[in-house]
Amino acid sequence: MRLNGKVALVTGANSGIGQAIAQRFAAEGAHVAVNYLAGGSRDEAAKATVASLATEGIGAPADVSKRTDVEAMINSILEKFGKIDIVVNNAGVEVKKPFVDITDEDWQFVIGVNLTGAFVVAQTVVRQMLKQGNGGKVINISSVHEDVPFPGYAPYCTSKGGMRMLMRNMALELASVGINVNNIAPGAIATPINQAVLNDPVASANAISEIPWGRFGKPADVASVAVFLASDEAGYVTGSTYYVDGGLVQQVTKY
Ligand code: BGC
Repeated sequence: MRLNGKVALVTGANSGIGQAIAQRFAAEGAHVAVNYLAGGSRDEAAKATVASLATEGIGAPADVSKRTDVEAMINSILEKFGKIDIVVNNAGVEVKKPFVDITDEDWQFVIGVNLTGAFVVAQTVVRQMLKQGNGGKVINISSVHEDVPFPGYAPYCTSKGGMRMLMRNMALELASVGINVNNIAPGAIATPINQAVLNDPVASANAISEIPWGRFGKPADVASVAVFLASDEAGYVTGSTYYVDGGLVQQVTKY
């Protein structure tokens, strides 16, 4: 058990990568707050995720792009568990549109959840970690698109590039207080965000042909790296991005 006695907040943990991280953290002994955006089928999914955890967890509804929501969520976690040792900024959304058609609403939605959300959640948690005086771990789930452009996804790539620089800056500012800050950059992982591609055999085969490892990643592939970064074993690791992408970013153009 690598996270015994720790308390972790995972945003967007009602599905996909976030859910796998929440489950894996609990299997390693951590209490986990399962953040989700309230509404629709997400409420049930979050409840089921909490029920699936190996340790006691809680549902933690909040729109991560709204500071008042985030502060209320952090207070409810502190009421229940008294501290937060680990935060994973995983909540993320995508809008696919040509650059010339992107609206202000599209832009603000994607930047709001992915980048502003990561900032607001991390800042609120780090303030608490400073009060605790015992360091902590901040892990952002970015994407290979924190570095690689993706035509049709300008707001998404911009948000992920922003997460990269936010992480690097935070790592330097928080080194002296023992807070490790790192990114995990997943490639093409089989999760709901990629459902349309997964359902289309031609698009799926195209995607796989670009992945040197020859398959989509699984949420568990990302969760195992998150456990390492959240554990004491990663005590000297900060300011880095860990690619979990089956070699996708190293791929050369094939023609
Ligand atoms: C995106 C996926 C995409 C993958 C690889 C991820 O960040 O969410 O839609 O398949 O990057 O390009």
